[in-house]
Amino acid sequence: MAKEIKTEKKIDPASRVLSLVSHKLKTPLSIINGYTEAMLSQIKPEDKETFNAKALSDISKQGEKLAILIDKLVRFTSVSGLSAEEVKKQDTNIKALFSSVSSSCVLRDDALSIMSSDATIRRSGPVIDIKCEDKVSLFADKALVSIALEELVDNSIKFNNNTVKKIKMFYYEQDGKQILAVADNGVGIKEEDLNLVFEKFYQVDDFFTGQIEGWGLGLALVKMIMNLHNGEISVRSQYGIGTIISLRFPQK
Ligand SMILES: Nc1ncnc2c1ncn2[C@@H]1O[C@H](COP(=O)(O)OP(=O)(O)O)[C@@H](O)[C@H]1O
Ligand SMILES: [Mg+2]
Repeated sequence: MAKEIKTEKKIDPASRVLSLVSHKLKTPLSIINGYTEAMLSQIKPEDKETFNAKALSDISKQGEKLAILIDKLVRFTSVSGLSAEEVKKQDTNIKALFSSVSSSCVLRDDALSIMSSDATIRRSGPVIDIKCEDKVSLFADKALVSIALEELVDNSIKFNNNTVKKIKMFYYEQDGKQILAVADNGVGIKEEDLNLVFEKFYQVDDFFTGQIEGWGLGLALVKMIMNLHNGEISVRSQYGIGTIISLRFPQK
């Protein structure tokens, strides 16, 4: 009788560490966040200004931020482990995809800004313009392309200090390729950094005096997703003016 040979998928050691770290952090953090929420909800309105209430509220904000960071790490490591055969391609309406990514990014930006900003600073949310014909579709893994676009739009919001953050998501075809692009009026990327931004953990650090949120894994993740689709990613940017990132897919 023929012996069954099990082929184990090889995961590189770095990804294994990332995966272990992320999963082992997730459980304790969700317990911390859960109890913090529960305790916060029991604080009476007249006690809101006490030291304990403020401390609890800070713990809760930081805990939520940490949870977002860990989710990003989990997302990165799970996509790292995918092979091209595991990509579930289907006809995906591009305009609908743009719309759903746009609304989830705006919602998340709202939630983050409520958590982090000084309530006295007035801010306006990003304006996201979508340019795409109604019926065009892309044969791709909808969940993965949605993740890729979310990373791009999140960056366009994050690396942008304008009062009005203008972001455009648009579609066009060129040389038999389908192109999905995200443009912004943000801080831009210097020429010497253009290639580096796709490296894992790379963050350009000269614009912000504070800490940049995120791992520097977003564009590396988008690049992996494009590789899984035999596609390409390219970036054009003018420092101080804005950035356009294009995802180029081969046609079905
Ligand atoms: N739209 C953008 N405008 C300006 N800089 C950007 C933009 N997108 C990415 N960058 C730069 O590239 C770096 C890497 O991006 P990314 O991999 O998404 O990591 P993260 O968002 O966690 O910093 C960012 O830290 C930032 O310096
Ligand atoms: Mg990012």
